[in-house]
Amino acid sequence: MDGNRRWAEKRSMLRALGHVSGARQVRQIIDACMARGVNYLTLFAFSTENWQRPADEVSSLMGLLVHYLQKEVSAMHASGVRLKVVGDLNRFDRQLQSLMASGQALTANNSKLTLTIAANYGGRWDMMQAVQAWQAANPGQSVADMDEAALRPHLSMGYAPDPDLLIRTGGESRISNFMLWQVAYTELFFTDTLWPDFSAQSLDHALQWYQARDRRFGASNAPVAEITRYAI
Ligand code: IPE
Ligand code: MG
Repeated sequence: MDGNRRWAEKRSMLRALGHVSGARQVRQIIDACMARGVNYLTLFAFSTENWQRPADEVSSLMGLLVHYLQKEVSAMHASGVRLKVVGDLNRFDRQLQSLMASGQALTANNSKLTLTIAANYGGRWDMMQAVQAWQAANPGQSVADMDEAALRPHLSMGYAPDPDLLIRTGGESRISNFMLWQVAYTELFFTDTLWPDFSAQSLDHALQWYQARDRRFGASNAPVAEITRYAI
């Protein structure tokens, strides 16, 4: 969800207000996904690299995460959203960790849309922790005995299928350490739209683009699957 600060700068607003506007946009996109039959939505909220930002920005992002969870979880639950949070959560303070845990527990049996929030997440971190988790689950075995199928359940998103579509807002054409394992055959959509401006209409534009892709998964021609999951 890139472009919050540039959105604020364009309006001579404080950066923190760009993040606030970005967070406000999330509800609309969740609702639009549900209305379109998307079953999995994954949002990259905070990366392992974002700690390097100025302390006041990091603390305003943390405050926003707390505020968002306090304010939105009951509405999510009412509309059938299952909340998941992935990342190295130990680095967050106790209040945030407990909100994440209670939000996930409350919504665990919902099935309309699985909303994953990636927080203190990085694709490389995920692969490393998955190998270590595999090793812990298979003591005495060598990683030479591990194959892709054996590793997959230890990835932090082992509960979800790989995304069909990844949308990067904000004009950059890179993955920035998001879901590195899972995007092997994902369609990648890059847009200049800044995240706070990314609307249901922008989503439809991305979905129309997706519909025109020819997904071969390295093999021969197959029809484009109906989209069921995507990541931003
Ligand atoms: C949001 O956009 C990403 C987060 C870390 C929440 P940015 O803060 O990267 O905004 P830009 O890219 O500087 O405009
Ligand atoms: Mg950015």
